Amino acid sequence: MKNSSKATDKNPMDQVDDWENSLLERYPDPDATAKEKEEFRNYVDSERVEGVKEFYRLNHTFQTYDFVCEKEKEFLKFDKKEMSLWGAVEYLNTLVDDSDPDIDLDQLQHLLQTSEAIKQDGHPDWFVLTGFIHDIGKVLCLFGEPQWAVVGDTFPVGCSFSDKIVYPEFFKDNPDSTDERFTSKYGVYEPNCGLDNVKMSWGHDEYLYQIMKNHLPDPALYIIRYHSFYAQHKEGAYAHLMNEKDHEMFEWVKKFNPYDLYSKAPTPPDAQALKPYYQDLVSKYLPETLKF
Ligand SMILES: [Fe+2]
Ligand SMILES: [Fe+2]
Repeated sequence: MKNSSKATDKNPMDQVDDWENSLLERYPDPDATAKEKEEFRNYVDSERVEGVKEFYRLNHTFQTYDFVCEKEKEFLKFDKKEMSLWGAVEYLNTLVDDSDPDIDLDQLQHLLQTSEAIKQDGHPDWFVLTGFIHDIGKVLCLFGEPQWAVVGDTFPVGCSFSDKIVYPEFFKDNPDSTDERFTSKYGVYEPNCGLDNVKMSWGHDEYLYQIMKNHLPDPALYIIRYHSFYAQHKEGAYAHLMNEKDHEMFEWVKKFNPYDLYSKAPTPPDAQALKPYYQDLVSKYLPETLKF
């Protein structure tokens, strides 16, 4: 997804998908072919690497406990837009017109590739639906939010930042790093208090979770809420805040991750042909319209 105007100071990545692609560098597809690896190396030039690095510097500097509280106040009123789920997908796709079709898939393609791969493996329909909707919170971009407050790895705020989070050195300029309320291992939290009691850095994951929380089964909600929490689902850095239910549910988050990262299909799914199936699936679980 391109920025409509490239405000490089605020939005250092050429497109928000550069973050997702950078994940493939950290967690390469074990099944990638030599050709795919080569294509990926060509894609990740030094300019993109620098853009992603600057993006993380901003993310780690400005995602504070107070910032998250502010964003909750602003966005959890859900007074920005009312849309059907399909309308939201189409809305999310409005920023991609100028993207390079050779490299960049539009958001709908990423969602369909994820959900179709889940479907092909015979998983339950709520899991397919979760794949189809998991990134819709990125509409935050269209509400004028900077990249660093929409995408990127998520992590708890209100307690010490783990050095297992990507680019941990960038937390040095985060005001919470020197605020004594937040610098201990547990900060404002109790041991194993459960992630539902923990504030995560603000972005598309938490936002969509809050929109979906009354409509989907627990594993789906965990996937939506924590799919960018790599410091836990890949690195296991925050088990001390998790309860038994979290651990159980994170098995689903882990199951979902390869579909999110590695589901690029050689032939893109035919969105028009698949639309009736997804319309049925969406209406099975979700109301006619949703408030964003
Ligand atoms: Fe995502
Ligand atoms: Fe995704």
